[in-house]
Amino acid sequence: MMYLLFTADSFMQSALDEIGKAARYGILDSQRNILLIESEETRIEKFEDMKFVYGAFPIHCKSDLDYEDYLGSLYRGIASLNLERNKRLKLECFDINCKIGKSAKDIEVAVGKMLESEGYNINIIAPEVLAYVVLLNGKSYFGSMKLGGRYGFVNPFRIYKSKNVSRSEFKIIESFSEFGIKTPGLVVDIGAAPGGWSAFLAGKGAAVVAVDSADLDYESIGRLGLCCNVSQDKSKVDLDNLKGGCILHLKMRSEDAIDLLPREAADMLVDDMNVGGIDSAETVIKISGALKRGAVLIMTLKCMHRNVMAYISEVEEGINKEFEVKRWKVLPHNRQEITLFAIKR
Ligand SMILES: C[S@@+](CC[C@H](N)C(=O)[O-])C[C@H]1O[C@@H](n2cnc3c(N)ncnc32)[C@H](O)[C@@H]1O
Repeated sequence: MMYLLFTADSFMQSALDEIGKAARYGILDSQRNILLIESEETRIEKFEDMKFVYGAFPIHCKSDLDYEDYLGSLYRGIASLNLERNKRLKLECFDINCKIGKSAKDIEVAVGKMLESEGYNINIIAPEVLAYVVLLNGKSYFGSMKLGGRYGFVNPFRIYKSKNVSRSEFKIIESFSEFGIKTPGLVVDIGAAPGGWSAFLAGKGAAVVAVDSADLDYESIGRLGLCCNVSQDKSKVDLDNLKGGCILHLKMRSEDAIDLLPREAADMLVDDMNVGGIDSAETVIKISGALKRGAVLIMTLKCMHRNVMAYISEVEEGINKEFEVKRWKVLPHNRQEITLFAIKR
């Protein structure tokens, strides 16, 4: 079985170490960190466990890209996948560097029409199967997969359309789906500005205490129909008036909020502060008294060292006293950072 795998610059070597254990690989595009790997393993789950790989496409066949008759050749490639015609099918084209004169979207429409005229059940709204072609280095790579929860993991090209507060929110959206997190009641969000994570969490019905000395984007948050109050008050935080779907912005550094938060009250702590992982871990420990036992911690690790594994271990050690680290992973929309998922002891 062949797979196209995607990693990020900073994690290329670590990804190769992981993959090397599992399979033979070739680097198809070192600039974009795209690898073609061959493996005995036919189940994609194997790659989902890889921490430094943020996307994986199973590839069932490949051919040289026919520039003269590219629509015809792409149609034939998809047809050769022998997909069931009665299944609702969506086609996606990812033109990485071939630029054949039509946009990927136009190719999808044109080839989709050809498939439809041959009796395939094209359905882009509620597909059961995704068929795709990846155009890379003069070749076309074809594959398909059943759609389900894993689609987000598998498709590194999927770009969420943001109408919300900040692009950062993609990181928390992906954390929720990757780590299977349920909607919390009360969340503390440290390093919250401009408020993408807070808005996402409040939009899910959580009550959010957002801590950051910078302003949130109150206007965008309001446009989403969410309430947001600001407090610079250094007295205890009153949670009685903080309802689900609302944000209380403590306009101060996290270190200054530690003693203000009620003890053992929150179901979740999210930390996207742009400070080094070790400092971040220290703050997380200090603020952890505000969390219930079993509360979820999501933390992004920034400022990578060359020795990624040693850096992660150091952060894990830093929070180990209060948290059990469950998983960590490089997520598709957060390729320069590691996202860590832990549970309060
Ligand atoms: C990457 S941004 C967070 C983006 C945010 N998650 C969102 O969705 O909009 C990092 C934030 O961390 C904040 N920050 C850095 N050090 C902090 C500290 N000690 N306490 C609180 N916030 C801090 C910065 O002010 C900045 O707004």
